[in-house]
This record gives sequence, structure tokens and C-alpha cells, in this order.
Amino acid sequence: MTSSPAAVVVLISGRGTNLQAILDQTAAHQLPIEIRAVISNNPNALGLERARNARLPTHIVDHRAFASRADFDSALMQVTDNYRPQLVILAGFMRILGKEFIRHYQGRLINIHPSLLPEFPGLNTHARALRSGAVRHGASVHFVTDVVDRGPVILQAVVPVKPGDTVQTLAERVLKEEHRIYPLAIRWLAEGRVKLHDGRIFLDGKYQAEPIREN
Ligand code: GRF
Repeated sequence: MTSSPAAVVVLISGRGTNLQAILDQTAAHQLPIEIRAVISNNPNALGLERARNARLPTHIVDHRAFASRADFDSALMQVTDNYRPQLVILAGFMRILGKEFIRHYQGRLINIHPSLLPEFPGLNTHARALRSGAVRHGASVHFVTDVVDRGPVILQAVVPVKPGDTVQTLAERVLKEEHRIYPLAIRWLAEGRVKLHDGRIFLDGKYQAEPIREN
């Protein structure tokens, strides 16, 4: 690659296994990105430890310290913008972001969600998939828009729901796929192969009517 790596900021709230997958691929020179900072709203997020181990700058913007969502969003935006990111990656970030934040990063703000969107937006996706009798489940990487978990989907991976699955076994199967497709989608974005135009996804200049499936 001759072009410079894409500047990235990662936002987390918890254990950070998706962050770790991104860190590992970056360290292995498989991702043309430069992770400039990791920001957590949760001071105790295990992912902060992972970022420190990778010698990355970390920041805590604790939502509990702010009187309103708008104040939290604007503090988060300020810290994020200091790093001039081309891409802002939500990796298990558990706060709902406001319209202004989302508009500011439109087309460069992505999330991973543990279901085949538009199925099961929101929380407890694995339990809900099991309860519904679904025979397949999975994960989706999507652009963030102001309707939660409804932004245009870039990439999905499908897993089977197997007889005897529990929330834990199903979650593990999905998470393994998350760690595979999130870095891949990030690579496509960093290389400029995936773009968002008027709410539609383009890969290599071609409009994608359906989410791309990576298995
Ligand atoms: C993942 O299942 C992701 O899809 C969801 O939150 C979880 C984060 O896990 N948005 P981790 O913190 O990356 O381990």
C-alpha cells in the first residue's frame, strides 16, 4: 500500500474483544489503519486495558458525569475530533448517540451488532433469536444513523442456530464471526472500497441492494 493508513478512533464500553481483533490485525499489518485513540464511557471497561497494552492513548468520557445526553455527546465529540479520525468505530459501545454526534460523523461512523439486521435490533439478541425459533442468526456491520440499529448494513455473517444451543453457545458462535467481519469491513472502508451515498452502500463503485454476506 502506498497511501497512508486511515486514522481511526474506537469507542468502547466493555470487554473489548472486537477491539482486540482490530488491534491484532492492525499489528499484523492486515489493516491499513492507524488507531489513534480508544475512548470508553465506562472507566472499568476491560477494553481500556487492551488498548493500554497496545500502547494506545485512552480516554474516559464517563456519561454519568454529564447532566444531559447532549453534554455527554459534545464532550465525546471533542475528544474524538482531537484525533481527526477518518473512521469512528463503535466496538461494544453501549450508549445511544444523539443526532448531532451522528450527523457530524455521517458516513464514517460504524457499529457491529450481534444479529442479522433488521432482525433483532436492540439488546439480548441471542436470547430473542432462540426464543423466536430462528434457525439462523449472525452479526451485522452497519453505518450508524439516528435510528438505533437501523443504519445501512455493510456486511453480515450468518451462523446456524443448532439444537441445544444456549444463549452462551450461540453468542460464542456469533462473536467468532464478529471478529472476522468487523476487521474486514474496516479494511474496505479504510481502502475507500465501501462508501455511503444517499443512505446506500457502494462497494467498488457498485450499489449493493442487499447486505454483503461474508459466508
Ligand atoms: C458485541 O457482541 C457487539 O456485537 C455488540 O457488543 C458486543 C461487544 O463485545 N455491539 P466486545 O466488547 O467487543 O467483546
